Amino acid sequence: MRLRCHSPARPLPPASHLVRGMSFSSASVLGLGGAAGLLSARSGATPAAPRRLAGPNVRAKAAESDGFELMRKGVKKAGSETILTPRFYTTDFDEMEEMFSPEKNPQLNTAEFEALLREFRTDYNQRHFVRNETFKKAAENITGPTRKIFVEFLERSCTAEFSGFLLYKELGRRLKKTNPVVAEIFTLMSRDEARHAGFLNKAMSDFNLALDLGFLTKNRQYTFFAPKFILYATYLSEKIGYWRYISIYRHLQRNPDCQLYPIFEYFENWCQDENRHGDFFSAMLKSEPQLVSKDDWQAKLWSRFFCLSVYITMYLNDHSRDAFYSALGLNTTQFNQHVIIETNKTTARIFPAVPDTEHPEFFVKMDKLVELNTKLAAIGNEDAPDMLKNAQRAPVIAQMVFIMLQVFFMTPMESGSWDFDSETQLAY
Ligand SMILES: [Fe+2]
Ligand SMILES: [Fe+2]
Repeated sequence: MRLRCHSPARPLPPASHLVRGMSFSSASVLGLGGAAGLLSARSGATPAAPRRLAGPNVRAKAAESDGFELMRKGVKKAGSETILTPRFYTTDFDEMEEMFSPEKNPQLNTAEFEALLREFRTDYNQRHFVRNETFKKAAENITGPTRKIFVEFLERSCTAEFSGFLLYKELGRRLKKTNPVVAEIFTLMSRDEARHAGFLNKAMSDFNLALDLGFLTKNRQYTFFAPKFILYATYLSEKIGYWRYISIYRHLQRNPDCQLYPIFEYFENWCQDENRHGDFFSAMLKSEPQLVSKDDWQAKLWSRFFCLSVYITMYLNDHSRDAFYSALGLNTTQFNQHVIIETNKTTARIFPAVPDTEHPEFFVKMDKLVELNTKLAAIGNEDAPDMLKNAQRAPVIAQMVFIMLQVFFMTPMESGSWDFDSETQLAY
């Protein structure tokens, strides 16, 4: 994946061609995002706004010159929600309590959860997210369309991290009585996600903008996922987040001239948080053996469904933001394929079935989806009546659905094994 870096001065496509946002983390990529678009949503609980991250801390100057819509001085209006943007999630907390009640679920491996809790309490990244004087200067040197796509990247990443924070925090609160060990792990994971979101929001202030996360907490729609779907989706989103961060980090280590902004230097330790979060969800899946059983056809079906939802969403999202990856010297297609293949290998250790991402036809079909998605975006940008646009969109969407079904029905790989020791040695 060694690639040439585009000079930051190299002109990028006009901003109007750049689709909004971008996300990297767990909750990120769709982390939790993405897959949500394929399932039904309903409004859910709205957790209390976290004080550390909420609006009053946003002290940035006005930034009208960058063309962003502001809620008030220095506070960016959040990008609109689409099928592919990071979402906020809620679940059936009563059912979660049943799943993690030691009395009701004899499959809970208390020793494993206690070991994980010790890891989280160690807090390896306690002193990691400390900014230095290079941030502001680097942001000032990012100009023109690159500046706009950087801000959008920061916004989406921040929203995605914050989405993880809200869900984990609420789970930590709700499970306190039923299972204090699991509850504390959730609370400590919400600590990590709050750090990630806060670090990204602080980075936005280098661009004279910020997000009002308290406002978002109260006003953004929450997507409902049943607990078992939360486990599949969150496991994947944490692991794919890990592979995205580490792949970008390694690429920039090999190509230091592409290091446009110092936030990427933090990705090496940052991704270990995501990896640990994924390991925790792996332990949770093992405590619900029917979700990862090789003999359960539903488990296999849902495993493939969530893998494909996450991979397709990331592939389409990233290809519509090619300019961002080019600015970092990354080839969007190579980067995505690397991340998907590695995430799939990791996921195959726990999910009972995964798509065969190394089948020669797999990425041919994924590329066809990108082509059709580009067509859809072009129709959206046309200056035509909505009715006409919808008529043009319909056959393109039908083709996309057909290809997605073809990908889904490709022969999957039998996988899984929930008696392995730990995934923490993966990675480097
Ligand atoms: Fe995170
Ligand atoms: Fe995470």
